[in-house]
Amino acid sequence: MTEANPFPKDFIWGASTAAYQIEGAAEADGRAPSIWDTFAATPGKTRDGDTGAVACDHYRRWREDFAIAEDLGLRGYRMSVSWARLQPAGRGELNPAAVDFYRAQLADLRSRGILPVVTLYHWDLPQILEDEGGWPERETAHRFADYAGRTAAALGDLVEDWIPVNEAWCVSFLGYHEGVHAPGRRDLTAALRAAHHLNLAHGLAAEAIRARRPAARIGSAVIMTDVEAASDRPADHAAAQLSDGNGNRLFLDPLFKGSYPEDMVWHYRNTEAFDAVAAGDLETIAAPLDFVGVNHYHRFRIAADETDAHLGGRALPPEGQVTSFGWEVSPDSLRRVLERLAAEYTDLPVHVTENGASFDDEIGPDGAIDDAARIAYLDGYLRAAGEAIEKGVNLRGYFLWSLMDNFEWGEGYSKRFGLVHIDYETQRRTLKRSAEWYRGVIASGGASLAWG
Ligand code: FCB
Repeated sequence: MTEANPFPKDFIWGASTAAYQIEGAAEADGRAPSIWDTFAATPGKTRDGDTGAVACDHYRRWREDFAIAEDLGLRGYRMSVSWARLQPAGRGELNPAAVDFYRAQLADLRSRGILPVVTLYHWDLPQILEDEGGWPERETAHRFADYAGRTAAALGDLVEDWIPVNEAWCVSFLGYHEGVHAPGRRDLTAALRAAHHLNLAHGLAAEAIRARRPAARIGSAVIMTDVEAASDRPADHAAAQLSDGNGNRLFLDPLFKGSYPEDMVWHYRNTEAFDAVAAGDLETIAAPLDFVGVNHYHRFRIAADETDAHLGGRALPPEGQVTSFGWEVSPDSLRRVLERLAAEYTDLPVHVTENGASFDDEIGPDGAIDDAARIAYLDGYLRAAGEAIEKGVNLRGYFLWSLMDNFEWGEGYSKRFGLVHIDYETQRRTLKRSAEWYRGVIASGGASLAWG
């Protein structure tokens, strides 16, 4: 139990969003299709055929959204810029209209005293680059570095904090192995090659940003899952280890240790995937960072399962309370992944770059949205983050997913993660009770959490 509020005074209380999930305006001002436009427009790929073509219309309503962010007292805002908007051809000059759009946004955030943190790749690969082979091709990492360097040159007087790639695991395994995210391919070797090229893209982009903006601070947004063996049986342990290797270490080890995990290299020895690793790649990937960003949503208890051809395991059903996604509510998992990061990987400053929960929010007769379950979720996870600080983790910020309800990828608009409710018919914004609650948490510097 915590005696005193552990959050430092300069803690960055923030929220996160991503371009394709909120912007809409898919055809405005020279934007080209991304793989998500193509995927979502393909029948049967997203829930109810939903697409991000309109989303929250943030492209036109962003001033209203940033006024809400300021009203809540946010100190930081993690957003992504759209590659398909900034560099529609996937190469060459940036699109001036897109540069103007993001410059206006960044200047506005700064004028409101909100620190912008910019992700360069939150899943919206220009379709033209997928047509040329996408992330399984090494050239895509070079294209990304070019885009990153040009974007740092164009926007870097307004932003210091950059995150090249959001969740390389999701991009590679959900997009190229399971096929449930864009581009919807089902090819394990392609997914593994994509994973390496996303890791490489991170490293090459970091170099390109620093070449243009030497004072830039560069971090990650690695998804970290809390993996446990379902029992003490050696077979369950072995399956849990492979699951951890695939979901966590395949991405953390190259970033912080400059190597791929031996058990993964062995596990995938028949795929030729690691042939994609060229001399010097790991040095590029492991170049020192300025901060670490961790996205955290899951605990998995893994049991051995011989019928699973990929990793020989399966996750047991969640225990206790779940979100509307069916994701287990397990606040202590956040403390565990943060402590593990500090113990096994790095003592760099850490930010939780995503964490949050979807619930089926109901609008009351008076128009209010009393999302008590989300408040309880956030309270528990924030206290767990505080406990990690007490245990010595150098945690500097928390960027809640998400500022507003948005297009939740394969689940379309059916999953609501926002502090702010979006009525997709009218584009009306309504603060949920959790937004008022978070405003209080921020104003109190964390003291108003349910400590003790
Ligand atoms: C993460 C994604 C983010 C959002 C949340 C719920 O994996 O980075 O865009 O969809 O999940």
